[in-house]
Amino acid sequence: MRAIEVESLEKSYGSLKAVGGISFSVDEGEVFSLLGPNGAGKTTTIEILEGLRDADSGKRRVLGFDPWKQGYELHRKIGVIPQGFKFFLYPTPREAVRYYSALFGVKADVDKLLQRVLLTESADTYFLKLSGGQKQKLGMALSLVNDPELVFLDEPTTGLDPAARRAVWEVIRGLRKEGRTVLLTTHYLQEAEELADRVAIMDHGKIITSGTPGEIIARHGSGDRLTIRADEKLGAYLREKAGLAAEFDGHGRVSVRLKTKNDALSALKAIEESGLDWSDLSTRRDSLEDIFIRMVGENPDDQGNGRHPPG
Ligand SMILES: Nc1ncnc2c1ncn2[C@@H]1O[C@H](COP(=O)(O)OP(=O)(O)O)[C@@H](O)[C@H]1O
Ligand SMILES: [Mg+2]
Repeated sequence: MRAIEVESLEKSYGSLKAVGGISFSVDEGEVFSLLGPNGAGKTTTIEILEGLRDADSGKRRVLGFDPWKQGYELHRKIGVIPQGFKFFLYPTPREAVRYYSALFGVKADVDKLLQRVLLTESADTYFLKLSGGQKQKLGMALSLVNDPELVFLDEPTTGLDPAARRAVWEVIRGLRKEGRTVLLTTHYLQEAEELADRVAIMDHGKIITSGTPGEIIARHGSGDRLTIRADEKLGAYLREKAGLAAEFDGHGRVSVRLKTKNDALSALKAIEESGLDWSDLSTRRDSLEDIFIRMVGENPDDQGNGRHPPG
């Protein structure tokens, strides 16, 4: 079954079209990432699916429910961590989990939950004394109190240091192993690449491409390239004598686009035959990041800590 189905979803704030007719679906048990720069419309989309905001138009079903009209039923089955999760300053994680269990009317195993999000050691530390990573982990614990089928994580690692980010990734991998569906928004490419079964790249309210990271790379990537440190003479040799798509970058590097496997072998052979000087041979393939930068025109990781007004 599909956990989430969205078709031609639209939402404007006044004259600003925050979500401009997007369609995607998320299968049960998969980690799906909406990846995009600030202002792309990720939070608006996720809030519509959580039933916190209504859309202007378009189909939206979450676990079979209309999130706006059937919020009561839906909220028993989903877990939510809003962007920039914050909590009261003085409860400890243990107290916070108890408090949420009472709110949901469920009997949660507090120790087990805190252990699951790797927070056992800080179980009795006041919220205000927790690190950014520990706060996010508490957010995850709270989102799991009602044993949800589907968890919404809106930029769970924004502003965290690399070690804390990896710890949160571990928790997300755990959710997937338990068979829960996860909708994750992020502006960190590596995060989407590491965690997501499928990704939709969003920009200015539109999904510009979607699929598994591998599919996106195959569809939009420029394939494999071989690069070597050499001068333009070798570039010319490879073009003229071996018929390869070789380019000199003007700074001592020649790169060859490898359209077929055979191109790689011809390139090596021609480099050897040329008798010219070369060093540092390597091959690489476009990453999701290369494609993102080409399509969106910026590296989302360069946006500072990604904070912006709530929305
Ligand atoms: N409550 C709001 N009122 C007016 N504009 C908003 C509101 N929330 C978000 N926006 C605007 O809508 C666009 C999409 O925002 P948002 O959904 O928060 O994107 P993202 O989460 O990808 O950064 C942005 O231009 C943002 O400034
Ligand atoms: Mg956001």
